Amino acid sequence: MITPGGTGPAPRLADQQDDVRRRVVALACRAPSVHNTQPWLWRVSGTRIRLWADRSRQLSASDPQGRNLLISVGAALHHATVAAAALGRSARVTRFPSPRDPDLVAEIDLAEARVPFAEELELAAAIERRRTDRRRFTSWPVPPERLAALAAAAERPGTRVLPVDDPGARAVVERLVARAIEAEDEDPLLREEQRRWIAHGPDDGIPLSSLPAHERATERPDRFDRDGAYDLNSFSVDVSDAVLALCTETDDAAAWLDAGEALSAVWLRATVGGLSVVPLSQVVEVTETRAALQLDVLAGSGVPQLMLRIGWQEVYRPELPPTPRRSLDEVMKR
Ligand SMILES: Cc1cc2nc3c(=O)[nH]c(=O)nc-3n(C[C@H](O)[C@H](O)[C@H](O)COP(=O)(O)O)c2cc1C
Repeated sequence: MITPGGTGPAPRLADQQDDVRRRVVALACRAPSVHNTQPWLWRVSGTRIRLWADRSRQLSASDPQGRNLLISVGAALHHATVAAAALGRSARVTRFPSPRDPDLVAEIDLAEARVPFAEELELAAAIERRRTDRRRFTSWPVPPERLAALAAAAERPGTRVLPVDDPGARAVVERLVARAIEAEDEDPLLREEQRRWIAHGPDDGIPLSSLPAHERATERPDRFDRDGAYDLNSFSVDVSDAVLALCTETDDAAAWLDAGEALSAVWLRATVGGLSVVPLSQVVEVTETRAALQLDVLAGSGVPQLMLRIGWQEVYRPELPPTPRRSLDEVMKR
């Protein structure tokens, strides 16, 4: 939690700086990542924090290009700037600063201390509350103006966040999501990769406690295991759920990083407003469904990078436990 300092003896300036940087990195590591792979490495020196994409944690079967990897790193980058602001530091970000080191994704320079704004504290508080909550949403509709505000909060040059509200387009999205899930399920390599990241280890992967128990009688496609061991029916899209399409102008590393920053902006803002978000990446991972999405749903509005299912969880549902993260020592580049 972000709390004001105590009343003990004043720590040395260098210790304070070190503390702020480590807290920024620790909060940034709470970012969502594909299968909770946490594909990032950090280094702090002076007032600068460097962020690398960790290719050793790339999903070779489902993400050969590293799209989901860089979206995840982009989310961590945005989390870092939100955390820095709440800790009273503005952050100047230089993306891909070194052509010789393409995995060095960003340099974040922290400025002098200042008093954070209330909205910055609110957004940072959402970092620790945010979860991928795959339980079935209630049927309460998400008001279109709420959706539009979320989309607007995340737009940045080269990135667009589009509500998919036309009933015809929604039906196409549902069909494509189901088709992508089936296509990945038929591929033994993809199936095995997904299975491996469930209960993967004590500090990464998707723990069983984050996966919903069976919630409905109807047969619907799900993301991971279809043999009934893990019933993830609520992974697919329901008609009452709102859907946002995260798109970019280009389809390269810079665009994927931007998409990740936009993802984090939407998700934290949604969390502040009590809304739940579940990314749907399979429909973008499968070449055929990605092409159909671009042509039939987005019709020239951009390249789809991620679809987001958005809705309300039941008010009195117990909170999900947070998913685990690797220790700071492990994610610090030596
Ligand atoms: C690029 C990306 C793609 C993702 N794709 C999916 C997905 O298709 N289905 C899903 O349920 N969760 C998806 N997630 C959510 C991750 O599984 C989740 O962030 C991770 O397990 C950590 O859990 P947390 O978000 O609760 O901290 C995705 C996240 C990212 C960043």
